Formats: sequence, C-alpha cells, structure tokens
Amino acid sequence: MIILAVESSCDETAVALVRDGREVLTDKIASQVELHRIYGGVVPEIASRMHIEAIYALADQALEETGLDRQDIDAVAVTYAPGLIGAVLVGVNFAKAAALSMGKPLIPVHHIRGHIAANYLAFSELEPPFLCLVVSGGHTMIVDVEDYTRMQILGTTLDDAAGECFDKVGRVLGMPYPGGAAVDKAAQRGDDRKYALPRSKPGANPYDMSFSGLKTAALNLIHHADQVGEALDVDSLCASFTAAVSDTLVPRVVRALEQTGRRRLAIAGGVAANSRIRADMLAAAEALGAQVYMPPLKLCGDNAAMIGAQAYYEYQAGNLADMSLNAYATRSILGETL
Ligand code: KG4
Ligand code: ZN
Repeated sequence: MIILAVESSCDETAVALVRDGREVLTDKIASQVELHRIYGGVVPEIASRMHIEAIYALADQALEETGLDRQDIDAVAVTYAPGLIGAVLVGVNFAKAAALSMGKPLIPVHHIRGHIAANYLAFSELEPPFLCLVVSGGHTMIVDVEDYTRMQILGTTLDDAAGECFDKVGRVLGMPYPGGAAVDKAAQRGDDRKYALPRSKPGANPYDMSFSGLKTAALNLIHHADQVGEALDVDSLCASFTAAVSDTLVPRVVRALEQTGRRRLAIAGGVAANSRIRADMLAAAEALGAQVYMPPLKLCGDNAAMIGAQAYYEYQAGNLADMSLNAYATRSILGETL
C-alpha cells in the first residue's frame, strides 16, 4: 500500500510517499527555518503562507522523483493535530482535496504518533509493545506504545516542553533559531558541572516532569552575568543546562522501564537528536538490558515520512476521515474518535 503523506504543523512543509508503513519511497521537506530565523521564532501567518506556496510543488516533485503517478497512490494521510492551526489547516485542506480528486481514503494522523512511528522507518524489526520517550519542541512525554494505535501516557511535562527550553536558552544566548542544535554543539565543548542548575523532583506521578524552573534558573544566570558584566562560559552553561534536561528525563524513563517491564525503548521528536540525551539514555537503558532504538537525526525532526508510517497502521485500525476532517491546534495522542 502506497500512502501519500503530508505534514505542515509547524515550519516545515513536507510530503512523502511511504510503502506499507516501513519503506520511504521519497521524503521531501521544504524548510522555512531561515525565514523565521529573522524573527527569532516561528511567525504563524508566515508559516501558513509558505506552506501554501510549497505544498503543491512538493507533491508534484515527490511523484516525479519516484516515477509514480496518481493512480499508484492508495491513500492520502495528513497531520491533523496538534500544531499551529493555520499551518495544520493548509496540509489538511490539501490532503482532503487530493483524496477527493483521486477517490482515495483519507487518513488523519496525530503528529506525535507520527514522531513515534519514525522508529518503524528506521528499524524494520521494531514492533509494539515498547516504551517511547517523546521529546519535541511542543511535547515531552513517556508513552507506553501497547500497539500501533493503542497507547498510554505514563508521564508528561507539567509546564514547558524540553525543546521549548532549549530554544529559549539558545535565543537568550544569541544563537540562531531553533536553538536546540546550537546548544547541543556548544555543550559538547563545555564542562557540564560548571553551573549548578536545578532538576525537577518527582511529584505525585513519578513520571511527570517540569522544565520551567530549570529554564528560569538558566535565563536568570545569563541575565545576571550580563547585568554585572561577568564573562559567561557559554559552552559550559549549555553543557550544564543539557545535563539538567537529561537528568530530568533519563531517571523517569529508567523507572518506567523497570515498572512496566518493557524490554524495548524508542526515542522520538526533535530533541531526540540531542547527543547528550542520546548517550545518557542509551547507557541507562542498556544497563537495564533494554534494547534501545534511536532514529537517525533526519527522522527525529518533523517530516512527512513518519506521518506515512503511522498512517499505514491507522488505516489498518480503520481510523479514516471523511471530507468533514478539521485541523486542531491541540489534541491528545490517545486517539479520540474523529
Ligand atoms: O519534533 P520537532 O522537529 O518539532 C516539533 O514537533 O516541535 O522538534 C523541534 C525541537 C526544537 O525545539 C529544536 O530546538 C529541538 O527540537 N532540537 C534539539 C536538537 N535538534 C533539534 N534540541 C536539542 N538538541 C538537538 N540536537
Ligand atoms: Zn514535531
């Protein structure tokens, strides 16, 4: 089954063709990052307009590149939530028009389910059940993936997402948007014990986490140094900050592995590209004897191939939409009836 998949929830316009949920035939991404960088963050109206300008050409290129034509497509899939509402709407409307005109089924996919499914593309042997640490720009959660379309959220951030904090710290340090990758690079040259930064303590739900205290502490430290004219060791601040994020995530995932007895751990989302978090997570999970799956960096960030992967399993579970499909800025990963 060949699925034409579309993703437009933030600042990447993406179209992919994916066979049977596992094989990427093509994966096209038009990134708007350079444009939003001028403003230090994503400007929603600009994102929507850029999606409109890019999406048709990307879909044409995807077909051209693979030598396929419209008759070869069996279904159309699209991220319908969550994201910037105007941006998601562009993808949803494009997908509805494509499905209607070709007379093919329409498959709505939750963006975070897509991030998890990126692992199916990278690891052909991976099947549920497994645990997944989802760390993206807008979401941070530990998910028990019981089956391809049945999951439980074990814990989640109570305030900011990890990626949001990376971006904020990067921005205040004058790094280009989005700051995560730049903070990661600087951190590799720094001393992770130079600056004392807080780690959130486990609360009522031991899998929940908080990053706002850490974010505020890091920003205060930077502003204070600026105000008193103190030289800041940027590399070490990035290393200390990244260590604190990792120390917040890793013990909770370890606990979840121990408590659930799951033997496999996957990671997903843009922040899953972070070198320190990858190394710490790998060491901790392997010490427990768990098998660890980490998608290549290209599949961690937003892309449409991951939407095509998850769509295959949503289709098999009968989760289809009709032309009344809407876009949603927020929506739980748990898969409400559409
Ligand atoms: O999953 P994603 O591409 O988009 C969302 O669904 O949010 O995640 C984007 C986030 C941004 O906050 C970005 O700074 C962060 O992922 N990110 C990183 C790294 N690469 C991307 N954060 C830390 N270290 C990285 N290497
Ligand atoms: Zn994402």
